[in-house]
Amino acid sequence: MEGSDEEDSPEAPELPLEILVYMLGFLPTSDRKEASLVCRSWYIASLDLRFQKNVTFCFPASASSLELVRGLGRRSRCSLIISQLDGFSLSRSLLMEVGLCLGPKLDSLALPGSSVSEASLLALLPRLTSLRRLDLRGLDSLFMSGAFLSKEEHRRQVRSALSGLEELDLSNLRYLSDLTFNRLTGCTPRLRRLSLAGCHIAFEFDPYRGCPVGTVEVSSALLSLRNVRKLVTEQTATLVALDFSRTSITHESLRSIAQVKGLALEELCLQSCKELTDYSVAVLVKHQSSLQRLDLSGCTELTSRAVLAIAQGLNSLTHLSLSCDWRITETGLEDLVSVSSLKSLDLSECPLVGGTEMVNGLSRRTERTQLEKLHLRSCMYIRDEAVFSLTQLLGNTLRHLDLTSCANVTDLSVRAIASYLHGLVVLRLCDCKEVTDWGLLGMVETSACELDEEKEDQGPRFTRTFGNMGFFKPPRLPFQERPKMVTQDHLERFKQQSGASLLALRRLRELNLSACCKLTDSSITQVVRYPDLQHLSLSMLPEITDASLSDVARHCRSLTSLDLSYCAHISDHGVAQAAPHLPRLQHLDLSACNNITDKSLFLLAQHCKRLKTLDVSMCNSVSGTTVDLIQSQLPFLENVHYKLHSGTDLTL
Ligand SMILES: *[C@@H]1O[C@H](CO)[C@@H](O)[C@H](O)[C@H]1NC(C)=O
Ligand SMILES: *[C@@H]1O[C@H](CO)[C@@H](O)[C@H](O)[C@H]1NC(C)=O
Ligand SMILES: *[C@@H]1O[C@H](CO)[C@@H](O)[C@H](O)[C@H]1NC(C)=O
Ligand SMILES: *[C@@H]1O[C@H](CO)[C@@H](O)[C@H](O)[C@H]1NC(C)=O
Repeated sequence: MEGSDEEDSPEAPELPLEILVYMLGFLPTSDRKEASLVCRSWYIASLDLRFQKNVTFCFPASASSLELVRGLGRRSRCSLIISQLDGFSLSRSLLMEVGLCLGPKLDSLALPGSSVSEASLLALLPRLTSLRRLDLRGLDSLFMSGAFLSKEEHRRQVRSALSGLEELDLSNLRYLSDLTFNRLTGCTPRLRRLSLAGCHIAFEFDPYRGCPVGTVEVSSALLSLRNVRKLVTEQTATLVALDFSRTSITHESLRSIAQVKGLALEELCLQSCKELTDYSVAVLVKHQSSLQRLDLSGCTELTSRAVLAIAQGLNSLTHLSLSCDWRITETGLEDLVSVSSLKSLDLSECPLVGGTEMVNGLSRRTERTQLEKLHLRSCMYIRDEAVFSLTQLLGNTLRHLDLTSCANVTDLSVRAIASYLHGLVVLRLCDCKEVTDWGLLGMVETSACELDEEKEDQGPRFTRTFGNMGFFKPPRLPFQERPKMVTQDHLERFKQQSGASLLALRRLRELNLSACCKLTDSSITQVVRYPDLQHLSLSMLPEITDASLSDVARHCRSLTSLDLSYCAHISDHGVAQAAPHLPRLQHLDLSACNNITDKSLFLLAQHCKRLKTLDVSMCNSVSGTTVDLIQSQLPFLENVHYKLHSGTDLTL
């Protein structure tokens, strides 16, 4: 019966179309999709051109996708991601249909996990006359023979269609050679973005000929840096983004690209380029000072010298990733956060970073910071003092905070986050083992008798702690202890100071509390109440029960993904209470919830019609027959993870 009053929505009033369209304009896309299902007039309003400008459709190649493509022909413009295409006739006719129905309307095309033939792609490309983005990543089938676009006639047709192409993704291609690369890029003279991530590029030495690359003109066996550089030189006028991630690009090669005359890159991605050194970064920064986005994650040779070079040389920097660059220390971070344009900083898995210099840098600043995203996963030296200070300094701007596996972060940090970061949209506290109910509830941990003594106290003590931040002292009680159960009495107090509980983060869309193993129903039932929350992870919380599940479902009705794996107390009873409130759920993980049985599956089939993935592996009471049955009942279900008792793993 719970919540049934909220369930029965009143009939949608008859409003003029323009008004409906105007109202729908205020909703985010996912909510608009829901709203379009209310009734026919809302559906029609949702089809208004202003909402249809740039929609991406993602589907596997199948007989039913033919119908879908024909239907899309009515749109003004769209993007497609088609997976699992192969060399057979169904795939050929699908691509043909895309060309016929969507041709000049297609904005972007990606064919991941496919193996299409040259012929079927050549039948399609000449029709895509206003394509902006083409993603051929991993399409080895196209380049293996080396014959793709070898005919002048084909090149002419493709060139006349793709001359406006801005973005070309050629990552993870094993068989790309100078010859095929030049034939293809010869058809795309105005590229803005080019990705060659994970390609086998011969940077300085030709392993086949045993001589330095560059002495041979154009190779049909491999892609040489010299040849890539030639393209960069030809297209400097438009080229602003390059991706050489996961290649063995050397210092000299990077320098030769960075020095191309007239090249002014805005984005450069060099993930896991292990040959690069501090000196490479210094040279890069000197020649490409207009870089805005720089990804140097996994460049394990880099040290704080690179950080200093970036801080001093890149005045327009907005996004920087240094994750997994484990040599990086505090040095240089003060200067880095002083770069006034910086919006996103990723220092995940830089275990030597403790935050002090960032705090120094941010407090030194006179103009407002713009930092919106801060990723500090597995930074073990980050402590409450740093989090407290950072939250105060970033209160107005921060939207994403990742403190996953920050072992030294405790309840005090959680309270600071709740008190200062009211604009937070994404919060990850996964695996912060010291975090307890007290932290989420925004309460100072006290025993019952202490609470009585302090009854006269004016206002929450917590607020006073903020007053003298400079002399921040940890609380009296050691946090190593197991939390005492929060009583009703505590909750009463909590209600009067709710501003400091996690409830204050009204805008949260993603919350990850996995493996914060001290959390119990006491906090989860009280604070996980976010109307806009879409992604929630509560896995590996051995204490939580059905009470948490049912309260979360009642208060977070926008959830699209929910992870409850390894929550042993969750049972069919909880699912029965939750499922009716979660019609938008698309991804549910119940693996290793041993008290879940077939009953739950029937409930999901009845209420959660949008489910796309379901994990019930290691649920010993779930039967294969029921899994089969609900597969036939849920139209969108793509993936069920189901493990038999014997340990055989079945993905259906
Ligand atoms: C379409 O959407 C994609 C991704 O959401 C974006 O990168 C692209 O710039 C958009 N294109 C247009 C024409 O707005
Ligand atoms: C906390 O920080 C200290 C150093 O201050 C470090 O030695 C320790 O490993 C960190 N993690 C834990 C769980 O204490
Ligand atoms: C929560 O965080 C863990 C660890 O980073 C990650 O494996 C998991 O996918 C996250 N859950 C969600 C729903 O994002
Ligand atoms: C699972 O359910 C059984 C009874 O059906 C109960 O005895 C047991 O405690 C439950 N296990 C957990 C971990 O809640």
